[in-house]
Amino acid sequence: MMRIVMVGAGYVGLVSGACFSEIGLDVTCVDSDKDKIDMLLDGALPIYEPGLDRLVSDNVAAGRLHFTSDLTSAVKGAKVIFIAVGTPSRRGDGHADLSYVYAAAEDIAKSADVGSIIVTKSTVPVGTGSQIKKRISVIRNDELEVAANPEFLREGSAINDFMHPDRVIIGVESSRAEDIMNDVYSSLSLNRTPVIITSLETAEMIKYASNTFLATKITFINEFSDLCEKTGADINDVALGIGLDGRIGSKFLNAGPGYGGSCFPKDTRALVQTARDYQSPITLVEQVISINEQRKLDMVTKIIESFGGSVFGKEIAILGLTFKPNTDDVRDAPSLVIVPKLIKAGASIRVYDPKGMAEAHMFIDDVSWSDDPYSAIKGADGVVILTEWGEFKSLDLDKIKELLKSPLIIDLRNMFSPDDIIKKGFDYVSIGRKPVYGSSN
Ligand code: UDX
Repeated sequence: MMRIVMVGAGYVGLVSGACFSEIGLDVTCVDSDKDKIDMLLDGALPIYEPGLDRLVSDNVAAGRLHFTSDLTSAVKGAKVIFIAVGTPSRRGDGHADLSYVYAAAEDIAKSADVGSIIVTKSTVPVGTGSQIKKRISVIRNDELEVAANPEFLREGSAINDFMHPDRVIIGVESSRAEDIMNDVYSSLSLNRTPVIITSLETAEMIKYASNTFLATKITFINEFSDLCEKTGADINDVALGIGLDGRIGSKFLNAGPGYGGSCFPKDTRALVQTARDYQSPITLVEQVISINEQRKLDMVTKIIESFGGSVFGKEIAILGLTFKPNTDDVRDAPSLVIVPKLIKAGASIRVYDPKGMAEAHMFIDDVSWSDDPYSAIKGADGVVILTEWGEFKSLDLDKIKELLKSPLIIDLRNMFSPDDIIKKGFDYVSIGRKPVYGSSN
């Protein structure tokens, strides 16, 4: 059984490591955060990801998945060592902060066996692989090969995305590295997953091009939703109508309050910085970034207007704080802009999120934290839905109507159909569709 090491046991490293062990590799996940490793050794998870707890416990029990904070011993005997540490936006300029990547690479270089391959799985700017090679050559004489293998995991569906990828991208510089990486993915490519073998730079570029394109696609439909509201068109049907064109595709055309998360915001910023560094600016993505940031503020205006022009003294229930459903992650979530702005405008806010409350506590305050959606809604002047958690779809609308002081729902994820909700007697404001007023019925 091939032994691999995954340096970094976060959203990418832990999921990837567990999935690699599931497909039959012997995996050691390393993290410098001893608390995180202790938690994993105790059978608890430092992150929420559907299905991950079972995947980890099964593979730990099978003896294929191990955790340690001792990188030096972990890399001994490992043929492939992945780097899956964070690459956050650097303070101030948006460049990717590669200090954790380089630190991991240098630590690996100090103790990896001859012939090991270092693979970047973290999202790293074009040219990082070559930089890693230069830094390693200063530490040891024998050349450690460097490869790139970007991930395309979405939080909330990461295991499925790993096990059923649209493609595997591998950047290598030798046929030996290619053979070894093909071995790593052999169980996956058995079900005929396309494996693209290319250069380091190209593999790094594919990752950024993918994420920035997806962020652009979302921003495109978001801007069109504003035009739909003005013209009386329905953005959901526009998305359906264009998405059926095979050249466009129907995914990532859900208009909302703007994209968030730990990837699109940082990857778009890093990409435009890299492009500027090479004197080849990608001004389209620069526009996407500013449109997305402005959108969150526009959503505050939309909410205030829906309350008649002022939220001063209003009690508002916010449902959903995470940047998307099925995750506990609130990084760069629209809620982190919208909630404080509503408070500043004089509203009293009650919040509920199925999984994101603990994380959100680190970013927002001056709100009341509700244990369930109905207690957040009780006595409020209106409800604002920021994240499309499945459980919000099945809320008892009759009960909500009774609980609310006034029957107003502002749905920034278009979870409900205006025709249905108006029958329940709500005033309903959504995205890219005309507001409907059922309370006067
Ligand atoms: C993204 C990429 O999808 C994934 O391939 C990459 O590896 C990591 O970054 P993630 O950030 O986990 O994954 O979530 P994703 O589902 O892509 O959503 C990102 C943001 O876009 C969320 O805030 C989501 O609400 C928003 N979004 C997504 C929309 O507003 N509309 C859509 O149609 C899809």
